[in-house]
Amino acid sequence: MARERKLQFPEGFLWGTASSAHQCEGGNVNNQWYRWEQQGRTLTGERSAVAANWWQQAERDFELAEQMENNALRLSLEWSRIEPEEGRWDESALERYRVLLSDLRRRHMTPLVTLHHFTDPLWFADRDGFAREENIRYFVRFVRFVVEHLRDLCSFWLTINEPNVYAFLGYLTGEFPPGEQRALRALHVLRNLMAAHVQAFYAIRELQPEGQIGYCLNYRLLEAACSYSPLDRVVAGLQETFFNWLALKLAEGERLPLPLRFALSAVPRAAGARDYHGINYYTRDLVAFDPRRPGELFGRRFPRPGAPMQDPGRGGYFGEVYPEGLYRVLHSVYRSTRGNKPLYVTEHGLNDVEDRLRPRAILEHLAMLHRAIREGLPVRGYFHWTLVDNFEWNEGWGAHFGLVELNPRTQERRPRPSASMFGEICRANAITESIVERYAPEAAATIFGPVTAAGSGARVLI
Ligand code: BGC
Repeated sequence: MARERKLQFPEGFLWGTASSAHQCEGGNVNNQWYRWEQQGRTLTGERSAVAANWWQQAERDFELAEQMENNALRLSLEWSRIEPEEGRWDESALERYRVLLSDLRRRHMTPLVTLHHFTDPLWFADRDGFAREENIRYFVRFVRFVVEHLRDLCSFWLTINEPNVYAFLGYLTGEFPPGEQRALRALHVLRNLMAAHVQAFYAIRELQPEGQIGYCLNYRLLEAACSYSPLDRVVAGLQETFFNWLALKLAEGERLPLPLRFALSAVPRAAGARDYHGINYYTRDLVAFDPRRPGELFGRRFPRPGAPMQDPGRGGYFGEVYPEGLYRVLHSVYRSTRGNKPLYVTEHGLNDVEDRLRPRAILEHLAMLHRAIREGLPVRGYFHWTLVDNFEWNEGWGAHFGLVELNPRTQERRPRPSASMFGEICRANAITESIVERYAPEAAATIFGPVTAAGSGARVLI
């Protein structure tokens, strides 16, 4: 009998889901996102309210993750709970996080703790948050405090989630709070966030020398709509530089391209200040030159015609499903950082309420990740966004990224087929032929066929 084909992942590979405090906990009433919601500024006017009720009952979702045999879980701490007023620490909030981290460890899941995921305490936001360099010290003080109190339970830290999204959506497009549209300020915020990461890195390093510390960026592939149009290529390149690579350059302590060098000061002590690179990847856009869009660096973005599309959400666009993009991003980050540190996929997922594309998408993205590993890239883990449907920022409750469906009104949960599939992959530490056959048979050829080096239908790889 022919041996079953499979893509085996390396031993110790981390499998988990990713989430954030404000999107899941509920009852966060002391940060700038709460204010934004109260002001009716989300696209739908919806509010996070009790969210997925994690503040009371995260443990029941951790149990679902345990049933999926995840060996890791990414979650974030809500700064505005732990330090509700400047310099006042809330021990009971800290205690709740201790309980959650202990629970994860009991279930044999390594916690990856994010220290900043888009939300700022109101007192910090009201002092202009990360727009002012002198405010970085507040964040670093918070980081010191939590690491001192949680270091016996966690040693895997992610300082700041997607500085590029926070800076550009909050200060350039105005879609996120504070809703500003000031390009230079957005650049300064980005620079200050990277400086905050570096300072937090050294603070954690001092308190916990064995800790693994990194940050993650959102890498969006931006590709010339017409590859032989020099104008399309220039504008796509510009958008990629600003959105993806500028933050990485700042974090790596590299020289910035002119004229940015004059606008932004370098981040001191940046080189070497991380133990891994966190990669969040969701989609790609094609970019065509458009002289009517100076605000978008003269580029109009749109999906490849005919591409499989995520649900549009209330905002109308979450982009195409493009698995090869993950492979390309992994290679680009590896190249840009000269392979200096391991890589983790700290987020990948899709908005898909019916689970019509998700099983296949997960399989194909993981096959691409596996291909990168086979080619020698040090990818050490994958965190799917997300475990249960949660509050999707400006999109409110109109997006469904969960392996598990959540009805936020009744708090009922219903695992989607993707949840059991992900469980099987984690359990096997592999994508097997039988998993593919049962969940997305139409993907078998791309997964076991042309993806392999010899193109011959692989057997056990790695
Ligand atoms: C963010 C998450 C968000 C996800 C899906 C990421 O950019 O880190 O908070 O829910 O995308 O849109």
